[in-house]
Amino acid sequence: MTDAPILSVDDVQVAFPVGGLMKRSAILGVAGVSFSVRPGETFALVGESGSGKTTLARAINGLQAISRGTITFDGDRIDNLNKAQMKAVRKRMSMMFQDPVGSLSPRMTVGDLVTEPFRIHGAEGRDLRAEAARLLTLVGLPADFATRYPHQLSGGQARRVGVARAIALDPALIIADEPTAGLDVSVQGEVLNLLNDLRERLGLAMVIITHNLHVVHHVADRTAVMYLGRFVEIGETEEMFANPHHPYTAALLSANPEPDPDKVHDRITLPAEVPSLLARPEGCEFHTRCPWGKEKCRVEAPPPGDVACHFPLEPGADPPITEPAL
Ligand SMILES: Nc1ncnc2c1ncn2[C@@H]1O[C@H](COP(=O)(O)OP(=O)(O)OP(=O)(O)O)[C@@H](O)[C@H]1O
Ligand SMILES: [Mg+2]
Repeated sequence: MTDAPILSVDDVQVAFPVGGLMKRSAILGVAGVSFSVRPGETFALVGESGSGKTTLARAINGLQAISRGTITFDGDRIDNLNKAQMKAVRKRMSMMFQDPVGSLSPRMTVGDLVTEPFRIHGAEGRDLRAEAARLLTLVGLPADFATRYPHQLSGGQARRVGVARAIALDPALIIADEPTAGLDVSVQGEVLNLLNDLRERLGLAMVIITHNLHVVHHVADRTAVMYLGRFVEIGETEEMFANPHHPYTAALLSANPEPDPDKVHDRITLPAEVPSLLARPEGCEFHTRCPWGKEKCRVEAPPPGDVACHFPLEPGADPPITEPAL
């Protein structure tokens, strides 16, 4: 692992316009986030539905304009590129989209699907049949799957085809949006192992996006937890799991306890209601759901830092206050 990041996201914001022509305003799908990923590293973005994970991924991939901040890939700014320039970037930064089967064209064979990146990027000179066999083998599928169609694949096989497409052009970074969604637990593990294995063999960096913190435990070096378009906690995954500092991280972890009988998790139940992006809470934006919330949290935004909380949890913290400070 070298120190120079392959990807740097600095204070990135994505604003979506709302309202009609007369009453224009904007909501922030991503509200100013910063992180970097080094070559060979796996970085995870975790958070509930609507927290802004996909919007951030689309912004990095140039599919969504940003309204503030900068994005740097392999030393170059990429947030201000035109279509042709961004296409060149996508040779080295590939995106696996959220819906595994739906993102594969039903009328293309697996062989055509995995070699499509070569056609898109004008590399037809290659022996595409040999490339298809090579890529399918890399992702653990028989080479003769090249003649199959997406509807003939299981969910896990479709995901492997998605991975083969993502690695076709030998990228430096893969962004995988919910790579295990909709798969059986055992198949989820297989797909994560495959991604991890390829990262090591090909020296890739990865950004993995998921709802489920436990999906990332064994594959992500560092993790950021998103809430309402912001990072509430960012840090080393192992350390975060052993000792979550933000109440939201602790709640996500306790909502999905690991099957470890030695670990006693007090279940932390959050009020279900996620605030609307149209009406962000004052003070700490998490205070309306925080089991530990105090008066200060209602009025004052937490200071910037790796844990966006006035009262970060420490090991052996007091149990939650049952009624959140609404
Ligand atoms: N084009 C758009 N216009 C307006 N609002 C949008 C647009 N795209 C996303 N949003 C809003 O931005 C917020 C973040 O959405 P996003 O899809 O990034 O969440 P997510 O974390 O990926 O959720 P999920 O886990 O369900 O995939 C949501 O409130 C969503 O409604
Ligand atoms: Mg999403």
